[in-house]
Order: sequence, then C-alpha cells, then structure tokens
Amino acid sequence: MSTEEPAPDTAMEAEFDTVAAWTEQAIADLGHDHAVPAACRGSGSPGDLAWLARGLDLRGDARFLDAGAGLGGPAAWLVDHLEGRWTGRPLLTEPMVHAARSARRLFGFPTVAAVSEALPLPSGSVDVAWSLGVLCVTPSRPRMLGELRRVLVAGGRLGLLVLEQGDRPLPEQPEGNDFPTHDALAVQLADAGFRVDDEVDAARLPGSPAGWDERADRVAEHVRRHHGDHPAHRQADEQGRIMGRLMGERLVTTQLMLATAV
Ligand SMILES: C[S@@+](CC[C@H](N)C(=O)[O-])C[C@H]1O[C@@H](n2cnc3c(N)ncnc32)[C@H](O)[C@@H]1O
Repeated sequence: MSTEEPAPDTAMEAEFDTVAAWTEQAIADLGHDHAVPAACRGSGSPGDLAWLARGLDLRGDARFLDAGAGLGGPAAWLVDHLEGRWTGRPLLTEPMVHAARSARRLFGFPTVAAVSEALPLPSGSVDVAWSLGVLCVTPSRPRMLGELRRVLVAGGRLGLLVLEQGDRPLPEQPEGNDFPTHDALAVQLADAGFRVDDEVDAARLPGSPAGWDERADRVAEHVRRHHGDHPAHRQADEQGRIMGRLMGERLVTTQLMLATAV
C-alpha cells in the first residue's frame, strides 16, 4: 500500500491489517530471520508461548487451530518449537484479509479469512487451539468462546492470551478493545463449556531470548521509516500508545490460560 492510499476505516484495521501488510514488506527487505519476532508483535513473547505450548502438549498429528492468528508468527514459533514431536500443520483463521494473506505468504500455513465468532470449520474438527490477544477485540466474547468450544473435540485443549482489566477504571481505551475482568471471563469460559486448568500472569515468565526484540524493533523501525506519515500508521501508533500506558500502569495485564473443553 502506498502512502497515497486512503486511511482504513477503523483503528483496528489500521493496526491489524494495514500495518500487518507493511510488516510483510519490511521482513522481505530485512531478511526472513526477522519474520517470527516481527509477526508476533502485539502478542506473546517466546516465554508466554512456551508456557502455553507446555500445557497444550501438542504431539503426533494433532489438529491445531490458531484463531485470530494475525501475521502467523506465534504459529510459526510453535512449529519450530515442537519440531520432531508434533508433525501436524497449524490452521490459521484471521479476519483481516491483508494480514491473512501476509501470514500465508510468510509462513505457508493454510490461512482462512474469518472472524472467530463464525469459524468456517466443522464441529469437533480441532484437537488443540489457541487464541492470543483476541478475546479483547471480538465484538462478542460468548459467541467466540462458543465457536471455539464447538470446533474443539470434547477433552480438547485451549490456550488463551488475554488482556485483562483489573478493578481500577481505565482512563482511556484503545478503539475496538473491551478488556474482560478475571471474574467475568471465568463465567464466560464456564458458560461456553470450558474448564480452566491453569493460569499465570505473563509478567512472571521469562523475557525474550537475545536478539528477538532487536529483530522485531528493526522491522517496526523500517515500517515507520517508510510509512510513518500515513494516517494508518498514526492511528496504529495511537492505539499502541494507549495500550502501553494501560499496561505500564498495570491497569491491564497479560494473562495466560489453559482450559479443557468439557
Ligand atoms: C493483538 S492481535 C494478535 C494477533 C496474533 N494472535 C498474535 O498473537 O500475534 C489481535 C488479532 O485479532 C484479530 N481479530 C480482530 N477481531 C477478530 C475477530 N472478531 N475474530 C478473530 N480475530 C479477530 C485482529 O485482526 C488481530 O490480528
């Protein structure tokens, strides 16, 4: 997309679609060793992903879904991390079409453009799923959780990265985001047919390995150099600024959860 093109309709499109497509180009310019860290931006660090991977215990040819996969970095990390133990291939769903296309081109995984409240998958067709940073942007958490439960087999495992709101009121909120409280989410998970097995505050987990943040930052800087004046970049920056403040003040925290479909 050139800087002459119109701004996207919403801040979420700017952040998750337009910037995602620019990120693909930046990775092409900087080298594929930048792909996984850059395509994990906005979600978990390797420490978070490793905690989830341990609990999800993917093995053999288990069928795995990443719902709201963004650019596909977490799924690519998982494939590398489980090499030799899990022989399956991730299926990615992501509603932003540019992001979905970029994910497919970057990592070659089957990727379907779809919202998580209406997954184009048969019931009971997935053994293990994760959804990272999506429960706060879906227009309907109950519908999304209901869909995840429908597509998972009974006994299937679900990993979640959730941005949760604490007790204190939020001074500002990024457009399109609605952060659940811990208690509200617990009720919604139970109502959807999930049992929570484990959870942890991501702040307690190890940080990223050497070089990870640097590669992600180089890609972000490249995108800024080429598109920093574009309205979509400014919109995405503003979303990022608000998130940074909320997380810096721990008004919103990153929680990881493992659940079983009952
Ligand atoms: C914070 S990003 C996380 C992306 C990816 N899971 C990761 O961890 O890198 C949130 C993602 O949710 C997607 N999203 C927004 N609304 C959605 C919906 N209704 N269903 C599924 N995904 C949605 C966005 O397009 C974006 O890719």
